[in-house]
Amino acid sequence: MSGNVSLETRGRVALITVDNPPVNALSHAVRAGIAARLDEIAARDDVDAVVLACAGRTFIAGADIREFNAPPREPHLPDLVDRLESFKLPIVAAIHGTALGGGLEIALGCHYRVALSSARLGLPEVKLGLLPGAGGTQRLPRAVGPETALEMIVTGRMIAAKEAHGAGLLDAVVEDDLIAEAIGFAAARAERNAPIRRLSKMDEKLEACRRDPSSFEGKAQKMLARAKGLDAPVACVEAVRNTLTMDFVQGQKRERELFAQLKQGEQSKAQRHLFFAERKAQKVPGIDRQTGERDIRKIAVLGAGTMGSGIAMAFASAGLPVVLIDPDDKARERARATIESNYQKSAERGRITPDMAERALTLVSMTGDFTQVAEADLVIEAVFEDMALKKKVFADLDRHAKEGAILASNTSYLDLDEIATATSRPRDVVGMHFFSPANVMRLLEVVRATQTAPDVLATVIGIGRKLGKVSVTVGLAYGFVGNRMLLARNMEVENLLLEGARPQEIDAAATEFGFAMGPCAVGDLSGLDIGWRARKAAGLKGPVADALCERGRFGQKTGQGYYRYEDGSRTPLPDPETEALIDELAAERGITRRPIERQAITERLILPLINEAAHILTEGVALRGSDIDLIWVNGYGFPRAKGGPAFHADQLGLDHVVARLEHHAGGGNERTKPAPLLTELAQSGKRLSEYEG
Ligand code: 3HC
Ligand code: NAI
Repeated sequence: MSGNVSLETRGRVALITVDNPPVNALSHAVRAGIAARLDEIAARDDVDAVVLACAGRTFIAGADIREFNAPPREPHLPDLVDRLESFKLPIVAAIHGTALGGGLEIALGCHYRVALSSARLGLPEVKLGLLPGAGGTQRLPRAVGPETALEMIVTGRMIAAKEAHGAGLLDAVVEDDLIAEAIGFAAARAERNAPIRRLSKMDEKLEACRRDPSSFEGKAQKMLARAKGLDAPVACVEAVRNTLTMDFVQGQKRERELFAQLKQGEQSKAQRHLFFAERKAQKVPGIDRQTGERDIRKIAVLGAGTMGSGIAMAFASAGLPVVLIDPDDKARERARATIESNYQKSAERGRITPDMAERALTLVSMTGDFTQVAEADLVIEAVFEDMALKKKVFADLDRHAKEGAILASNTSYLDLDEIATATSRPRDVVGMHFFSPANVMRLLEVVRATQTAPDVLATVIGIGRKLGKVSVTVGLAYGFVGNRMLLARNMEVENLLLEGARPQEIDAAATEFGFAMGPCAVGDLSGLDIGWRARKAAGLKGPVADALCERGRFGQKTGQGYYRYEDGSRTPLPDPETEALIDELAAERGITRRPIERQAITERLILPLINEAAHILTEGVALRGSDIDLIWVNGYGFPRAKGGPAFHADQLGLDHVVARLEHHAGGGNERTKPAPLLTELAQSGKRLSEYEG
C-alpha cells in the first residue's frame, strides 16, 4: 500500500486498487500512488496484464475538486492518463458505482473497460464550469463517436452501463464478481497477445463526421443556443469539435489550455462553490447519522391547485404514490388535466419514456374525501394562503392523520408555530416550501418550526433528496429566507420605478446581470395579486404594485400588469398607461423623476439582496451564507455563474459592497444602510458565502 493505492497480483494479473473514501477522488496522493504502482509493475516480469479498480462505494468520481484552488502538483492528471494508455501491458478498468470526470478519463486511458450493470458513467465537468481536462474531450469521441460525446460532455449527463456498452464505451457488462470478471478479461487479452487498443490512436469513429460535419454542427449549434452566457458549454463544444480538425496531440493541447482558462475563471469558481454548498446544506445542527428517519410510503397533498398539482407530480416522478385531496370537484378535474398533459408533453419531448409517464400517472390518485389523510405517512398542506383556513385544516389533520404522520405546510409566508398550535402534535409539524412549478424547480426550503422533531426534519430532508431537490433548512421569519429577500428587492424595485426607471429598464438590467427574466416580467407572469394579498395580510405597501392591482392589472392573466400583453401572447410590451400611473404616483409623493443609469439600477437590484441576506444570517434564519446562495440560484433564477448573492458579494469585495450600500443610503434610502454583519466581515477580511452562524 502506498498512499491510498495498493497493488497485489492474482496469477499473472496485477490488481491496482484505489481506496480513497468517500468517492475515490483523484487527490495528489492517489495520482502519485497510481504512478508508483505502474513503475513497480513495469519493473516486474511476472505480470502480463493489469486491472485498475476501486474499493468502497464507487469507481473514481473525478479529480479532487478541493485541490483546484491550489497550484497543480505532479503527476498531473492528463500525464497520468497518457501514461496508462502508453503502458506496455494491457490495462482493464473495473468500474462500479460512478466513473465520473477524471475517473472516466482514467478509464478511457485504460485499454479496456468492464463494468457492473449498475454502474453509471459520465463527464459532468460542465456542471462545475469546466470541461474534461485529462483527455476526455479527445478520447470519448473516439470511443462513442463525436455526436454522442458532444451530448454527454455538454450536458454532463451520466449514462447507465447498458447504454455505455451499446455506445462502445464499455467492452463488457457483468452482473457481479466485478474484480474476478475483470481479471479474467485481462488474462484472456494477455493470453491472446492481441495488439493493445489505445483510444488516442483510433480515429475510425471520427471519420464520417470529419467528411461531413453538418449533423454534428447542427447539434453543436443547438447546444450553444442553450449555453445562456456560460463559458464552459462553449469550451466543451470547441474541444469536441477539435477532434474533427486536429490530431490527438493538438486537440489535447488545446483541451488543456481551455481547462486552465475555465478553472481560473469566475464562473467555475462560482459553480464549484455551489457544488460544495449543496453538500454542506445537508448538514443540519441537531441532526446526524443517529437521528432516525420515519418510514414514508404514502403521501397525501391537501389542495389540488397550482402547487398541489406540481407537488403531486414531483412525488409521482420519483416513484412515490400520492393522493391529492381537494373538496372542489373542478379543482380536481383541472389538476388531473394539468398532470396528464404535463406527462404527455414530457414524453413527447423525449424527456421521459411513455412507460415512465404511464407509471407516474398511476401513482397519482384524487379524492374529495378528507378522511383519506388517515392512510398517509406524510401530509403536505397546499390550500389557500390563509391562516384561519390553515389552522382549521391542521386541526382536522390532528383528528384524522395517523399517529407519527408528518404534517407539512407549503405556506409561503405564514407563521408555522401558529399553524402548529392547531394540533396536539407540534413536533410533527414542519414546513416544506416548494417553488412553482413544484415538479420543475429544484429548491425546497425546509422550515424548522420551534418544536419540529429532529427525525421529522431528517425525514423531510431525505424526501427532498429522493425528489431530486436541493433542500435547504431555514428558520421562522416572514417569507422565510427566499421570499423575505425577494420582498426587500421588490421594495427597491418600487423605489426605482418612482424615482425614474421604467419596468423595461429594470428588467433589462436584471437580464443583463444574468436572470432569465426581470422582476416586473416575473411579477406579471406569476400574478401581481399574489404579492398584493401577501402585503395586505402583513400590513405592507408597494405603491406601484398595489396601484396596478387596484386597477385589476394582475399581469399576464388579465392582459395587463407592469406591461400590456396582446391576445394570446406572453410578450411584455411597454405600456403608456402604466407609465402614466407611475408618473402620477411619483408626483403625488413629490418625487421628481430622473433618468437612472443601468449600472445604478443593477446595483439597486442586487445590493438589497445581499444586505437582507446579512440580516437573515445575523438573525439565524439561515444557517450559512452558502445556503442563501443555493436558495437564490435554485429558487429565484439568480445566475449560477455568479454563485448566488453571498458569493457574488464576496467576488465584488465586501468593502466595495459596503461602500456602494452607503452611497445609495446617502440618497436617503434607509433600506440600503449596510447591515452590521457586512461591515464586520469586510473589516475582518472574511467572506459572506463562508459565514456560518
Ligand atoms: N472532489 C472532492 N470531493 C468530492 C468530489 C470530488 N470530485 N466528489 C464528491 N466529493 C465529496 C463531497 O463533497 C462529499 O464530501 P462531504 O461528505 O465532506 O460533504 C463527499 O465526497 C460525498 O459526496 P456526495 O455527498 O455528493 O455523495 P453521493 O454519494 O451523493 O454522490 C457522486 C457521489 C455522484 C460521486 C457525487 O459526489 C458527484 O457527483 N461528485 C462530483 C463528480 C464530478 O463532478 N467529477 C468531476 C470532477 S472535475 C474533473 O474530474 C476534472 C478533470 O476532467 C480534469
Ligand atoms: P391555489 O389557489 O392554486 O390552490 C389552492 C387549492 O386549495 C384550491 O384548489 C382549493 O380548492 C384547495 N382547498 C381549499 N381549501 C381546502 C381544504 N380545506 N382542503 C383541501 N383543499 C382545499 O393555491 P396555490 O398557488 O397552489 O397555493 C397553495 C399554497 O402554496 C399557499 O399556501 C401558497 O402560499 C403556497 N405557495 C404558492 C406558490 C405559488 O407560486 N403559487 C409558491 C410556493 C408556495
